[in-house]
Amino acid sequence: MRHLLDPTDLTVEEVEFIINRALDIINNKDLYAHACEGKKLATLFYEPSTRTRLSFTAAMMELGGNVLGFSDARSSSVSKGETVADTIRVVSSFADIVAMRTTKEGAPRVASEYSRIPIINAGDGGHSHPTQTMTDLLTIRREIGRFDHLTIGLCGDLKYGRTVHSLIKAMNRYEGTHFVLISPEELRLPDYMKQELGENYIEVMTLEEAMPMVDVLYMTRVQQERFADQAEYERLKDAFILDEEKMTMAKKDMIVLHPLPRVNEITVGVDKDPRAAYFRQVENGKYVRMSLIYTLLQWREEEKCAQHEVALTDHLCQNDRCISVTEPVEKKAYVDAEGVLRCHYCDHKL
Ligand code: CP
Repeated sequence: MRHLLDPTDLTVEEVEFIINRALDIINNKDLYAHACEGKKLATLFYEPSTRTRLSFTAAMMELGGNVLGFSDARSSSVSKGETVADTIRVVSSFADIVAMRTTKEGAPRVASEYSRIPIINAGDGGHSHPTQTMTDLLTIRREIGRFDHLTIGLCGDLKYGRTVHSLIKAMNRYEGTHFVLISPEELRLPDYMKQELGENYIEVMTLEEAMPMVDVLYMTRVQQERFADQAEYERLKDAFILDEEKMTMAKKDMIVLHPLPRVNEITVGVDKDPRAAYFRQVENGKYVRMSLIYTLLQWREEEKCAQHEVALTDHLCQNDRCISVTEPVEKKAYVDAEGVLRCHYCDHKL
């Protein structure tokens, strides 16, 4: 079953398909008003959220579907000690698709191992946030028109910023992508992420150095909730602040993105600059989530059809070298990526 746990769970071609479908939704909203009628999205949010949860909810409503769930772990049986694995087994009986946000890193992956319905990671600790990345990609496509040959500045909390980690993974697959990393020493990008980048990045100490280079400036807040030592947070929280003066150093056609919420890292004076795309980015989040929900549900239906076909198969393999011809093994088949029914044992077409 297909889930979205990490941005690279989607191939570049699938990303293109989902972005194009989001653009089609923007232009033809009425055509999608009943696309998910009769389907239910469960939003399981163990951590606070404004944009992600509400945009998932709005997305499913605009597709004609329904939404159930919780927005606070304390109002669910998690507070009584129920595991993610048990929770998801239960929710699989009530919904058709899940969007979940967790404090624990990797929890959506555990959920996917016990789920009978597609799981969408809506942010897991400091690890990954693939639907924010799809939002960022749709914004880049709408604002700049391409994904290749872009220099992307990433500023702020690069250590705990899950949106940064996911965006790097997604954008590093396009030709000519370069990253400029701007962060305090203590909040630098983790080594495992730098390995992902290879030679495609530089680190600079100030926003002033980065401004003239970047096509996209991705600002992030310092993640207070990930700090064990609050004094350390207070010391680092205002390390980089984008203001109108720094914007004068930037390219005329660059854009500023921010996953939001913002705290102090972009002054409100920047909001009126046409290059400040972060509120347009929020709206894109709803459309790309509509596209994702609809597509994952469609893929699930196709998988169910394929499974049904296989269940009905009582084939005899025509390959006389196949073990199933000479031994009394259970007759089994599968449908491959091209939709061809094949023998489970020797892969011959049936
Ligand atoms: N960008 C983002 O994830 O925002 P929320 O935390 O409000 O969902």
